[in-house]
Amino acid sequence: MGTYTIAVLPGDGIGPEVIEQAVQVLQAVANHYGHNFIMTQALVGLAAIEAEGEAISDVTMELCQQSNAVLFGAVGGGARFEGPNSKTQPENALYRLRKELVLFANLRPVRLFQALLNASTIKPEVLQGTDLLIVRELTGGLYYGKPSEIHETPQGADAIDTLVYTEAEIERILRTAFELARGRRKKVTSVDKANMLSSSRLWRRIADRVAADYPDVSLEHLLVDSCAMFLLRRPASFDVIVTENMFGDILTDEASMLAGSMGMLPSASLGTRQTEYGVFGLYEPIHGSAPRAVGQDRANPIAAILSAAMLLQYSLGLKEEAKAIESAVEHVIEAGCRTPDVQEVGKKVVGTKEMGGLIAETI
Ligand code: IPM
Ligand code: MN
Repeated sequence: MGTYTIAVLPGDGIGPEVIEQAVQVLQAVANHYGHNFIMTQALVGLAAIEAEGEAISDVTMELCQQSNAVLFGAVGGGARFEGPNSKTQPENALYRLRKELVLFANLRPVRLFQALLNASTIKPEVLQGTDLLIVRELTGGLYYGKPSEIHETPQGADAIDTLVYTEAEIERILRTAFELARGRRKKVTSVDKANMLSSSRLWRRIADRVAADYPDVSLEHLLVDSCAMFLLRRPASFDVIVTENMFGDILTDEASMLAGSMGMLPSASLGTRQTEYGVFGLYEPIHGSAPRAVGQDRANPIAAILSAAMLLQYSLGLKEEAKAIESAVEHVIEAGCRTPDVQEVGKKVVGTKEMGGLIAETI
């Protein structure tokens, strides 16, 4: 039994709809196990720009700093792109949270539910046995490198982005991947573009050096284009994949399709700060704001609910409670309930609220 503080940032689009269900499931866990989750809501993204003038206010940043963990929905949906440094670009909320809270390790597990093998566009016999974890570096690389700008010149415009990594940044994300592999099938695939990029050659050199400290874990190097192909061809062969920020962004959307829908996949962004109970982190579904699905009660809340499970596991040290959420999700899927994104003939289609309610009830 204990008291835990969670900052809840539902954000934009379907964010509020799926986070409402995740909060309900956390409440069910609190009631069942006798915990006190103090959940404080705040605005981020478009909602915050409208009400507070910026994508995330200093007060909300402070709330996150003071909490044991952050539960995040989604931001964005507008089609204006002013660059992530602009305070009126909704994505600036993620940009600031990741950098200022030092959330350098983004964990995106792809675990398939046996009952959903047919929901994917990939053949079931290829998918069988897939259980992988992508560890994406989240605070470096192209997203944060300077300069990053467009120049207007009389000869026409030009633009530059900078892919920069320090040895220390590469080393800490690789160590995270090796540590996580120790708790799994002990295989790390380091993904880079070492045939073309200097940052990747440094990445590979450090991967080899770190691997020497983990003789029980095997390391393979893969070029990012090959990795994109092998994810579809032999997904079950991967255990832990570790890669830089933008490669990870792209590969995780691809990998999500193995699970049938982005609506199934949770994520954790872990920081460097230890809380009383575990490591501080931010937890969010990987699907984004999906503006076209808003207000129709058809968004899949499972990614958000499984993100809440990861929150319990990593930031609050509540492993049994996290397992209880995962089992409840599995139970409801096995029982044949599906949101429209993973709908199949012969299964019962349920809405966002009903799916969340069924999972909470099962707890
Ligand atoms: C993600 C998203 C973000 C990213 C966007 C919303 C900035 O696509 O978390 O994968 O590119 O990192
Ligand atoms: Mn992405």
